[in-house]
Amino acid sequence: MEDQDQIPEAKIITLGDSRVGKSSLIMKFIDNRFTINYLSTIGFDLKQKLIKLDNGQEVKLIIYDTAGQERFKSIATNYIKKANGILLIYDISEKITFNNIENWVEDIQDETEEKLPIVLVGNKCDLRDEKKEEKEEEKEEEKEEEKEEEKVGVTIEEGQNLAQKFHWKFYETSCKTGVNVEEAFKDLAGQVLEKILKKTGGKKMEQKIKKIDNLKPDQKKKKDCCL
Ligand code: GTP
Ligand code: MG
Repeated sequence: MEDQDQIPEAKIITLGDSRVGKSSLIMKFIDNRFTINYLSTIGFDLKQKLIKLDNGQEVKLIIYDTAGQERFKSIATNYIKKANGILLIYDISEKITFNNIENWVEDIQDETEEKLPIVLVGNKCDLRDEKKEEKEEEKEEEKEEEKEEEKVGVTIEEGQNLAQKFHWKFYETSCKTGVNVEEAFKDLAGQVLEKILKKTGGKKMEQKIKKIDNLKPDQKKKKDCCL
């Protein structure tokens, strides 16, 4: 393991409507637990986890879990400025939460001019699978009702298209089965880290150039080859 001080930090936030499963995703990712009980987040919550990316790089992930309820909206949007990356979440069984993603995009743009890495997450995909299983056992007339119900859900193609429009990565996840939960967090952490390393790498290079510019001309000649 690397020296703790050497491990880069990535601050990410969860954003999305109330009940889409923001806290559940974090609980699944950090503690590998899932509960059907709903406990709304009050204000915000803070969690940390040391993770290893697929390339072996360790990252200290600091996760701000925001509250989706309207009364906490200003607290949630306030954390956008503090973040290096965003997990933007909707519930595949509630179309309204998907439609609201564009509103969250506006909030993000209002808070920061920086282009933060964003991963779009369509959560609760187990509910679609559940519906499919039920459907196979149904009679014809019940199938019609189900079709109506499905219309309020979000298809995987709709999620993919939205992500493509904004050049985001996209995952459908389930906190119940665990599918893609780790992948979504690690993908975002990887993008954030890449951006941080580019910035700090660039700064180090700037400092080197400044140092060389301050040298006397003959000293400079000798150093030029080592930039
Ligand atoms: P706020 O804190 O109010 O913003 O809500 P939230 O987005 O943090 O939602 P939370 O994680 O509390 O989950 C809301 C409800 O959805 C809970 O009852 C969870 O059990 C349920 N839930 C979350 N993820 C999933 C999932 O992947 N599948 C299913 N079936 N239920 C889920
Ligand atoms: Mg919550």
